[in-house]
Amino acid sequence: MKKEIKNICCIGAGYVGGPTMAVIALKNPHIKVNIVDINEQRIQDWNDTDLDKLPIYEPGLSEVVEHTRGRNLFFSTDVEQGIRDADMIFISVNTPTKTYGKGKGQAADLKYIELCARQIASIAQRDKIVVEKSTLPVRTAEALSDILSNSESGFNFEILSNPEFLAEGTAIDDLLSPDRVLIGGDNTESGQIAKDTLSSIYEAWVPKERVLQTNVWSSELSKLTANAFLAQRISSINAMSALCEKTEADVDEIARAIGMDSRIGPKFLKSSVGFGGSCFQKDVLNLVYIAKSYGLDEVAEYWDQVIKLNDYQKRRFADRIIKESYNTVSGKKIAFFGWAFKKDTNDTRESAAIYVADHLLDEDAEIVIYDPKVTEERVYADLEYLNNHSSEYIRSRVKIVNNPFNAVGDAHAIAVLTEWDEFKDYNWEKIYSKVLKPANIFDGRNILDKQELNTLGFNVYNIGK
Ligand code: NAD
Ligand code: UGA
Repeated sequence: MKKEIKNICCIGAGYVGGPTMAVIALKNPHIKVNIVDINEQRIQDWNDTDLDKLPIYEPGLSEVVEHTRGRNLFFSTDVEQGIRDADMIFISVNTPTKTYGKGKGQAADLKYIELCARQIASIAQRDKIVVEKSTLPVRTAEALSDILSNSESGFNFEILSNPEFLAEGTAIDDLLSPDRVLIGGDNTESGQIAKDTLSSIYEAWVPKERVLQTNVWSSELSKLTANAFLAQRISSINAMSALCEKTEADVDEIARAIGMDSRIGPKFLKSSVGFGGSCFQKDVLNLVYIAKSYGLDEVAEYWDQVIKLNDYQKRRFADRIIKESYNTVSGKKIAFFGWAFKKDTNDTRESAAIYVADHLLDEDAEIVIYDPKVTEERVYADLEYLNNHSSEYIRSRVKIVNNPFNAVGDAHAIAVLTEWDEFKDYNWEKIYSKVLKPANIFDGRNILDKQELNTLGFNVYNIGK
């Protein structure tokens, strides 16, 4: 059995809420989908008639928004109205690492989630299905249930966990053909109805056998587990990259060799300057915190090593630039190709580039950055957020340019931090003529044609080669 859903509200118009709801609206034209957010600028950008101004850059997103916006997809700052009208409410707000108090630096900060629950409890005028879309620590649904069931309304709130597995840069493809959709809920009669109701929304386009139902705790913990396993794979291959650099083994050859073992598989074995993004570090740290809080210190230490290795990898890359620059980058110009945490996104959260730049700034380097999608103010905000250098110092040492050729004039080195496809096709001969000699390239993504660059005269330093 399932309920009829005519109106969905999603609280949080971010990287998950926006694309996810746009696709739900696309595939369920009979359902009105309202995405609400307290951030006025973000909502204004989502409503901008110029689709290039959407707050998120994702291939294919503007087409979906163009098709659905104003039809059955709406963006608004009126959170209360959104909650009131909805049969089903997705909570898709941010759950960053806590920066204060107990659990600082590890636990997830659930204040935004709690605020949403309290707001729903105080505004709802009928029963609702509440869906956790944000990534949350296992057993958060219990806290939500506590808040909602203790409201004076007397209405029934059924809580589901429906974590999102999309990756940025491929969000629309991932949403249109997901490996699976996970729905966790209570095994009570009303819980089963709620799970079936949400399943039916996805089954408008996802094959039924890919919509997986579990209990709510398994669903919550599966999300953290998936991200931990993915991050662990990257740290594992990056650990091998350090060993490769000492032994003349080639990490890409190793990835290929082990990836052909069907038990290991070929994906997520690309060695890099280190993983970034808003979630891997946050979610693994959260897992570490949860394990510790249950007294499982060995489990906590095991996962903590994934983060330590990632920090080591970023540091190693920066140190190599310094070492190969005759042990000093003071006053030297280092050109950065890329600032986003991966290609095809304008998201820079936890990007390895930020930490590499910060370390080079400790050494008094000058950095000129070109990224096809990241704005100047974003770069400055990322560096200022670390609080290691004054804003004046950062702005005097770091410049952002909107053309790669403007970045490389008289550069002592070029560092590739993001794997944007366009970097491969540049006129490298022209770039060679502009940089200082010896011409050093540090390819933090192993994307450039080393042989061709060597022929042109460049020294190319790779990860794990
Ligand atoms: P985001 O920061 O891009 O968006 C969150 C939005 O929620 C912001 O616009 C913020 O203004 C809004 N918000 C916060 N509190 C609010 C409130 N009380 N009322 C209304 N709006 C409020 O975050 P995101 O990247 O979309 O991530 C959201 C969640 O999804 C996180 O838990 C994250 O771990 C998870 N997740 C993210 C990704 C990803 O690729 N970014 C993928 C899967 C899961
Ligand atoms: C990741 C997961 O892939 C998604 O399934 C998940 O939903 C999401 O986190 C989340 O919970 O936020 P995302 O961070 O957007 O998605 O992007 P990924 O493709 O996973 O890349 C993360 C980082 O790892 C990037 O910096 C990327 O460059 C790096 N990476 C990825 C590697 O260094 N090597 C690889 O082989 C793969």
